[in-house]
Amino acid sequence: MLNVRQPSLELQMDDEAVIATNDDASECKRGAVQLGYWEDRYVTQFIKTSHRRAPEINRGYYARVKGVERFIHKFLERAGDKAQIINLGAGFDTLYWRLKDQEVRLSSFVEIDFPSVTSRKCYFIKRNKQLLQRIHEKDQEVKLSPTDLHAGPYHCIGVDLRNIGELENKLHQAEINFSHPTLFISECVLVYIENDCVNRLLTWIQTKFPSALFVVYEMCNMNDTFGHVMLENMRARGCTLAGISSCKSLETQRQRFEENNWTGSKSWDMVEIYKSIPNDERERIEKLEFLDEQELLVQLFQHYCVCIGWVGNQFSDCDLD
Ligand SMILES: C[S@@+](CC[C@H](N)C(=O)[O-])C[C@H]1O[C@@H](n2cnc3c(N)ncnc32)[C@H](O)[C@@H]1O
Repeated sequence: MLNVRQPSLELQMDDEAVIATNDDASECKRGAVQLGYWEDRYVTQFIKTSHRRAPEINRGYYARVKGVERFIHKFLERAGDKAQIINLGAGFDTLYWRLKDQEVRLSSFVEIDFPSVTSRKCYFIKRNKQLLQRIHEKDQEVKLSPTDLHAGPYHCIGVDLRNIGELENKLHQAEINFSHPTLFISECVLVYIENDCVNRLLTWIQTKFPSALFVVYEMCNMNDTFGHVMLENMRARGCTLAGISSCKSLETQRQRFEENNWTGSKSWDMVEIYKSIPNDERERIEKLEFLDEQELLVQLFQHYCVCIGWVGNQFSDCDLD
């Protein structure tokens, strides 16, 4: 165990605003799915409402989901049947169920969020036949507590990511094998966490997992006027964005992997990610909604990115193509 100062375990006032970002992300995803941007027959099981968002927002979510998925599949191609996925700040993400539909086999899939989020997720799962069926492996018992759920390879656990001691403890309960190839995902999560806590998390992963890939989806280029307006809008919702300094550029996104001794890292803004989506797919979604002007979409894409970091050599050839 790393000998480090642990932050207070009390939920801070700002945490409530951070937790609320999950409802917003889930609503946006639900809305885009309903318009036909991508398929997800599970998102409506977790979130019942969605307001119509601007076409730029829907396209942004589409690129986000496709960008992260790209690296999930690259990981799976390389990791084999010992693959483990740990989704940090998973919220109501439905990836486990979507991978199940594709018959992807994993040795472990863990979702982590604040206990107040996982308790809602566990509640939805246990009351929903469609969700439950997919996590119920034959003969395997479903273990439930108010905030955690364990069912075969699927685990949903409530823990504050700033508390490494408890995180490690809960990952042991989820029977994570630290020597298996492991994918970490954090989609719009690290920006809400203080830099020293993110550094501690990255160092801990790097020392514990000899073969790991980390996929981050987050903001970048936040130092210009457009970035400042985005930040003001987010702050107006009560989030202080404690980790924003790593979102200055593509370079600062990569730096935190390098500074925490990861083997390598790469990053792309969403303009590049969007362009890398096959033409026919892009043409299909571009017909779904009329976009008044491209300029705003391009600016949005310039301010979000995918950054990957890896430990060991198993994932060092992961690239955009
Ligand atoms: C914007 S939401 C994104 C949810 C999901 N990753 C997605 O993309 O749909 C951010 C999530 O990170 C979680 N989160 C932020 N800080 C966290 C922390 N310190 N510990 C656990 N979860 C955290 C929030 O509760 C929330 O569910």
